[in-house]
Amino acid sequence: TTYSLLILPGDGIGPEVMAEVRKVIGWFEKSRGLSFDVSEDLVGGAAYDKYGKPLADETMAKAQAVDAVLLGAVGGPKYDNLDFSVKPERGLLRLRKEMDLFANLRPAQCFDALADFSSLKREVVAGLDILIVRELTSGVYFGEPRGIHADDNNPDNEGGRVGVNTQRYTSGEIRRVARSAFELARKRSNRVCSMEKANVMESGILWREEVQWVHDNEYPDVELSHMYADNGAMQLVRNPRQFDVIVTDNLFGDILSDAAAMLTGSLGMLPSASLGAPMANGRPKALYEPVHGSAPDIAGQGKANPIACILSFAMCLRYSFGLGAEADLLEKAVERVLADGVRTGDLMGAEGGKPVSTAEMGDHIVAALSAL
Ligand code: NAI
Ligand code: MG
Repeated sequence: TTYSLLILPGDGIGPEVMAEVRKVIGWFEKSRGLSFDVSEDLVGGAAYDKYGKPLADETMAKAQAVDAVLLGAVGGPKYDNLDFSVKPERGLLRLRKEMDLFANLRPAQCFDALADFSSLKREVVAGLDILIVRELTSGVYFGEPRGIHADDNNPDNEGGRVGVNTQRYTSGEIRRVARSAFELARKRSNRVCSMEKANVMESGILWREEVQWVHDNEYPDVELSHMYADNGAMQLVRNPRQFDVIVTDNLFGDILSDAAAMLTGSLGMLPSASLGAPMANGRPKALYEPVHGSAPDIAGQGKANPIACILSFAMCLRYSFGLGAEADLLEKAVERVLADGVRTGDLMGAEGGKPVSTAEMGDHIVAALSAL
């Protein structure tokens, strides 16, 4: 089998961290005999500079044709004043929309060597390994009607305007993301907690009913629980290890996944995946990317931590290529390097020491792969 992968390094530190993923890919080819068909293209500001738009049509077509897309980061001060329609983030949004990537996966995993970086005490987060599945293409960020308009005939409204957004979910939209969560849970600890506000929102009642329906009809073997999202936020901070997979809507997922991210430490460590419907090969359409942005403050200085992007590639190995053992190996290599005290600047604590460069971190991880 040859696994096809489109790499979109993007802007700022994107190309720097992607160069380290290339080393990892090279290792798997050379040492494990795996065959990857890797192509590379532009996205974001880099694409705007060359094509006048943040994602060329040919790049979009390529993204639809490959087994998986791996993206670095987009944006930067150079592009901040561009017209909205050609802003770098539009390139990313176009990929998500046209590939119909409705399930956003945000793991929160605490590496033991970094437990003291967490916003919480080591006892609460040691060994933490949870996965938040956020619905990404519907809900209040997209619902109609929306807008800001005059609040006619309402003299009691000081200022005279009203802002409107609509939380709207169809049963089909809920069922498909629920299926993603149950599928993922079966490969983990087989537990799903669904979060909504069924106590105050009709969309929340539908959410709860449809998730329960998918469970009862298709995944009765998976343990399902329901929780109000506000309580969920509290539980995530009080005792995050009670969870395995959390599935929730777009708005709650945005907030809960950012909160969960801080349980584990640096932004430079956090991977993500966005999955869509199954393709002909039975695996979901998929885009993998680190959670962090283009970090213009450190770009071009060899300071970026490549681990978030490397762990995103590990997710790609697992979910798009079906290479679970290889994904485990890569995660173990990262863990080993951290346990050995190798640190990029963002992972330096009060104890000090000398940070390694982006390229040195990549070299250490490749060496650990060979040593494991
Ligand atoms: P950012 O994530 O780029 O940086 C926030 C802070 O974290 C900075 O101090 C940065 O140096 C540090 N940081 C981020 N990633 C790091 C890494 N791998 N290693 C070491 N340190 C790291 O977010 P910010 O500064 O708000 O945005 C910068 C640009 O990135 C903006 O143009 C923004 O629009 C864009 N952005 C793009 C995203 C994407 O491509 N998905 C996501 C978030 C922001
Ligand atoms: Mg957010």
